[in-house]
Amino acid sequence: MATGHEKVETNIGLMIILITLVVSIGGLVQIVPLFFMHSTTQPVEGLKPYPALQLAGRDVYVREGCYLCHSQMIRPFRAETERYGHYSVAGEYVYDRPFQWGSKRTGPDLQRVGGRYSDAWHYAHLMNPRDVVPESVMPGYPFLADNKIDGKEVQHKMQVLKDWFGHPYTDEEIANAAKAVEGKTEMDAVIAYLQHLGTALKNVR
Ligand code: HEC
Repeated sequence: MATGHEKVETNIGLMIILITLVVSIGGLVQIVPLFFMHSTTQPVEGLKPYPALQLAGRDVYVREGCYLCHSQMIRPFRAETERYGHYSVAGEYVYDRPFQWGSKRTGPDLQRVGGRYSDAWHYAHLMNPRDVVPESVMPGYPFLADNKIDGKEVQHKMQVLKDWFGHPYTDEEIANAAKAVEGKTEMDAVIAYLQHLGTALKNVR
């Protein structure tokens, strides 16, 4: 007569079912609380949803695939915090859909790049990185300076983020979105986005 244990070990189908059950309990215990914890669901103090121009800049960042060479995720190790600043916390990303964490660092992490350089530096760097960092392998993006931002589109995106995902935009912010980006180029937008990155937590040490 096979004992209970032997039955499981000699019946691969039953073993697969039981292993799946045990692994999913372990997974659920780790994952489910994250949906309810304050530190993972609430924005860090002072974090606001992206204003119109920064939102447009974020979309340029995504479209151009900047995340393929840059992460936005500072790990809690000394080597990282000494170089980039405070490690990343979940509450900084609540208005990022999708996250731009990235997984490859051909260039430096950008999570705390906001305020590190002037707008003029970013402009020169994005036009041709080698003008300011001679050894750079980053491509230039001079065409961003020729592309205008479509105000109506930004306005629509803000409305969707508010209606579907509950981003706390005021009606006034949405009504003024098109005006806020009037005459602005994709270059202005991506610089505005970069200058804001990580600033909500910048002064925490
Ligand atoms: C092929 C890889 C690659 C891509 C794609 C890329 N970068 Fe870079 N980036 C780099 C490298 C390498 C550096 C470091 C040298 C330098 O400063 O140019 C860098 C540096 C930077 C810096 C300065 C960071 C610092 O702390 O000094 C910024 C800002 C930046 N990139 C923004 C962008 C943006 C915005 C995009 C997309 C429009 C982008 N990068 C796309 C490789 C890349």
